[in-house]
Amino acid sequence: MQTDVSDVGADRRLADILARVESSLADDLLPVEIFNDVDVFQAEIERIFARTWVFVAHESEISKPGDFVQRRIGLDPVIVTRDGDGGINVLSNYCRHRGTQVCQTDQGNSRFFKCAYHGWTYANNGELIGTPFMQAAYGTPLDKRQWGLLRAPRVESRSGFIFASLSEDIESLDEFLGGAGWMLDALVGMHPDGMRVAGPPDRYHVKANWKTAAENFSGDTYHVPSLHGSMGEIGLAFGLDAGGEFGRPYEFENGHAFLGIAWTEQDPQLEFWGYPPEIKDSFDLSGFDESQTRVVTHDGPIVGTVFPNLSFFRAAAFDGSGLMSVVTSFRQWQPVGPGELEVWSWQFVWNFQDEDSALQDATIGQLQFGVAGVAEQDDTVAWEGAPKAGASAWARKEQMNFHFQQGNFSAIDQSPDPAWQGPGIRRRTGFGEHNQLHFYRHWLHEMQEQRPLNGPTS
Ligand code: FES
Ligand code: FE
Repeated sequence: MQTDVSDVGADRRLADILARVESSLADDLLPVEIFNDVDVFQAEIERIFARTWVFVAHESEISKPGDFVQRRIGLDPVIVTRDGDGGINVLSNYCRHRGTQVCQTDQGNSRFFKCAYHGWTYANNGELIGTPFMQAAYGTPLDKRQWGLLRAPRVESRSGFIFASLSEDIESLDEFLGGAGWMLDALVGMHPDGMRVAGPPDRYHVKANWKTAAENFSGDTYHVPSLHGSMGEIGLAFGLDAGGEFGRPYEFENGHAFLGIAWTEQDPQLEFWGYPPEIKDSFDLSGFDESQTRVVTHDGPIVGTVFPNLSFFRAAAFDGSGLMSVVTSFRQWQPVGPGELEVWSWQFVWNFQDEDSALQDATIGQLQFGVAGVAEQDDTVAWEGAPKAGASAWARKEQMNFHFQQGNFSAIDQSPDPAWQGPGIRRRTGFGEHNQLHFYRHWLHEMQEQRPLNGPTS
């Protein structure tokens, strides 16, 4: 097989960019071009999204046999199904005949998917079960297993979150998540009945790079007083400048990171993020270890990112008329192109909540953190700058870097908390940009194909 000269050129160009990322990261800097570069983006799809564990659905979205949702792994459309045996399948949504998408709806319940083009029909476990005019066209039946929909070779769940990997050769989901799995268990396990999605995700496009969103949710407390300050001024939020001094970053293996806030150091009433008594009194932490109990009671995360593109948000929020809810959302930053992402944002509610209470939480969550949410608009407009800088001929000519130097170049002590008993690393200030650097160091590790995976890198 001949190697295309243009491939060699692209490979060398990518290697040069990654080498520059490596040397810049050593100084807590990051080259602008990784936020808007076609070769970098293509490599991210192949080396990260087509290989690592990627969140695809929550079990509550496909609770009954036949339920399905259409999702994505990188740029690939996939169907996540619950088959008749209760099994979960993550199937390619490309027909094996000519590639037409066999499932054209976002969600539903069906035992099969029939391709609109020539009518090949697949069971909801992916098997080919029907080919029109089989006798006349083929004479003998096609091998139904060989010509079934492609299946993600690895599908595993943790605390109701279903992940898939397109690579057979990867560690277990639990190993991949490490301390982030421990944190997820705590965040949605404060009641034995757990949480569920309140409805389908909001979906909207933003002219930003997926990494900027993932990085922000890994623990960028620094932007909150500035970018979201107006939310405080109109009574939609409080304590917006607390994340620096009271920030408690958690850093886990494989690029995962969360940002807690020492809520009760500011106000004892903010135990459990400030959940109202009727919710708080229902929590049951009997299965938690000591550190999980401490975290959810006093130092609960406001945001977090599970590498590469699943993020968490939980905070008290107001509807503007005095109603308050502690809202929980998970969101996924779907890569669309080097300078474009699609945000998918789910509101989550507790299964033990009555309908009115769940509806209030979901509504307030959507008001502030849904497609038209105030906070979302603040963030997404700001994120659009990075790919523009990345595309700038001037910025590239000058080899412009973004600045991540709060951490190792700061005179403030940001060393890991020696009293921390939980997994990973915890620090005692929200400043530092360590979580963001941790995300990018793992990104570089994956882009340079340096498997096997390792622990916290910063
Ligand atoms: Fe699906 Fe032909 S493309 S049946
Ligand atoms: Fe924000």
